[in-house]
Amino acid sequence: GRVGVLLGGRSGEREISLMSGRGVLEALLSKGVDAHAFDPGLRSPVELAQEQFDRIFIALHGRYGEDGTIQGLLELLDLPYTGSGVLASALSIDKIATKQIWLSNDLATPLFEVLTEDSDWDSVAKYLGLPLIVKPAHEGSSLGLSKVKSVDELPAAYYLAAGRDKKVIAETCIIGDELTCPIVGQGASAEALPVIKIIPPDANYDFHNKYFSDETQYLCPTGLTDELNLAIQELALDAYRTLGCKTWGRADVMLDQKTGKPFLLEMNTSPGMTSHSLVPMAAKAAGVEYPDLVLWVLSQTLS
Ligand code: DAL
Ligand code: MG
Repeated sequence: GRVGVLLGGRSGEREISLMSGRGVLEALLSKGVDAHAFDPGLRSPVELAQEQFDRIFIALHGRYGEDGTIQGLLELLDLPYTGSGVLASALSIDKIATKQIWLSNDLATPLFEVLTEDSDWDSVAKYLGLPLIVKPAHEGSSLGLSKVKSVDELPAAYYLAAGRDKKVIAETCIIGDELTCPIVGQGASAEALPVIKIIPPDANYDFHNKYFSDETQYLCPTGLTDELNLAIQELALDAYRTLGCKTWGRADVMLDQKTGKPFLLEMNTSPGMTSHSLVPMAAKAAGVEYPDLVLWVLSQTLS
């Protein structure tokens, strides 16, 4: 059938999604799939309905792509699509809702507080400790994120994040290894891919170091003990299952160097598929090349 690859969109991660989507499209074409790009950032939902696609590969990131809205439209159009459904997408895009679900399932995630312009900066810093992280609640790729080292930096960090989102979250900064673990599949048959350890320059995995730096190092295998790798995979699987995710996702994790304990940061339900992205890297370590990963993800629209 005719496959639509959704890419671009209108979130802050539009440029990243264009890179992901082009990679996905090229892979599908190389496998002989009748695939076509569709950019909902340039064209209306009415046009999407008129395209007569049979299935949809979602390569959108962030709001209006990874947050349940496009998923809801595709449900209404009765078009099978890759990735999580409406509810899991909407929960996972919201870092506050995500953490509440995880905490209610006893899964470790850094202490947090929702910020408003009326927040008492001193008590926020006292509660979470310093350094702390401030970020928009519904953003990706570290956009609008600040690491705050002293309380007088807090208001500026808040306004930077608030410029991108109605909700802003502050959380304790876990110091230690930056890890990520992709999950594929659904429910009881979901499984974890190998964990990746990320070593960005200056310990700063920001937008630039995520996509454009050749200095960021990725270790897969991580070099951590088997026991710890397994514990991180289990945690990522639980994180995925409790949110009700399907097809695929990627849990970002920090390993506290003081206690050796892993903490969940967030779940990405439409993970990046750029040349620097992590799910393709972990899949490759598991013996699955990029085009086969893409075909497998697409095949999940049939189940
Ligand atoms: N939000 C980006 C695309 C990722 O997690 O890969
Ligand atoms: Mg993210």
